[in-house]
Amino acid sequence: MSGIVPLRDAIAKKFKRENNLDYRPEQTIVGTGGKQILFNAFMATLNPGDEVIIPRPYWVSYPEMVAICGGTSALVETSIDNGFKLTAAVLERAITPRTKWLLMNSPSNPSGAAYTEAELKSLADVLLKHPHVWVLTDDMYEHLTYGDFVFKTIAEVEPKLYERTLTMNGVSKAYAMTGWRIGYAAGPVPLIKAMDMIQGQQTSGACTIAQWAAVEALNGPQDFIPKNKAIFQGRRDLVVSMLNQARGITCPSPEGAFYVYPSCAQLIGKKTKSGKVIDSDETFCSELLEAEGVAVVFGSAFGLGPNFRISYATSEALLEEACTRIQRFTAALV
Ligand SMILES: Cc1ncc(COP(=O)(O)O)c(C=O)c1O
Repeated sequence: MSGIVPLRDAIAKKFKRENNLDYRPEQTIVGTGGKQILFNAFMATLNPGDEVIIPRPYWVSYPEMVAICGGTSALVETSIDNGFKLTAAVLERAITPRTKWLLMNSPSNPSGAAYTEAELKSLADVLLKHPHVWVLTDDMYEHLTYGDFVFKTIAEVEPKLYERTLTMNGVSKAYAMTGWRIGYAAGPVPLIKAMDMIQGQQTSGACTIAQWAAVEALNGPQDFIPKNKAIFQGRRDLVVSMLNQARGITCPSPEGAFYVYPSCAQLIGKKTKSGKVIDSDETFCSELLEAEGVAVVFGSAFGLGPNFRISYATSEALLEEACTRIQRFTAALV
């Protein structure tokens, strides 16, 4: 139910090969997507009143999952000025006796922010002072980082956290296998067993056909990954450059994933041609859709605005057209 043996072997090998982490196959679990892994982990561990620290902006499913599992989300601020990353000081202030998990996501959906080794170390130093806090790290976008950035995961950076870290990953992003629904994690055996017990009553386990496909993905040739990275990096650079040329938009260049998270703060209070006041990022996005047919997601949905998220997992031609329309839309605001 935790997964077919060849896949659990492949996962253990992947963690050794790519993250220098020693996990035995029985420390791993396979779920129906990363989503089910997160869900299993929260369902297995959260009691009413338990808190999960989640940096904002966050992937929309995190607080909803925590709520369904009876926990409380402690949403903590990041800022565009430090690349939307949680700092040690903010983490320190957020920890209470009821904190159960710190939920990390690097590279991040929606901001694309990824933590360097030094940044992870500074967070780890805080966590070492609070042994009751566990770390769930969602490394789904591990293989999508750009330039000189070197991906690290927290248990690798601070081995003393190994015993209280659940390292999560999956095949949805790096292998473009979203529809196969395979996610996985590795951590301490008692936690994995508790997650398996929940999964056993829920889905019995992930589809075995998809599990075999994931074995091929993890054990097979990996040479297309750098090629895909180069393509995504080109798209990121195109979108960041064109958005920064749009009036009133500020767009940081994130380290990873396939999202940018620009600010539209300078446009709040402006009016569209039809006289509609842009009073929030939500209005900005709906008016952009109305006027130019460009669909982006407003930042408040991810817990931090006024910003919006663009996914650049599409062709350069489409991205160029969309950014041209955004430039036209912002230029027309008065
Ligand atoms: C940050 C993050 N974690 C997890 C997932 C879920 O991935 P899966 O397809 O494996 O359920 C996604 C998918 O969008 C995501 O963006």
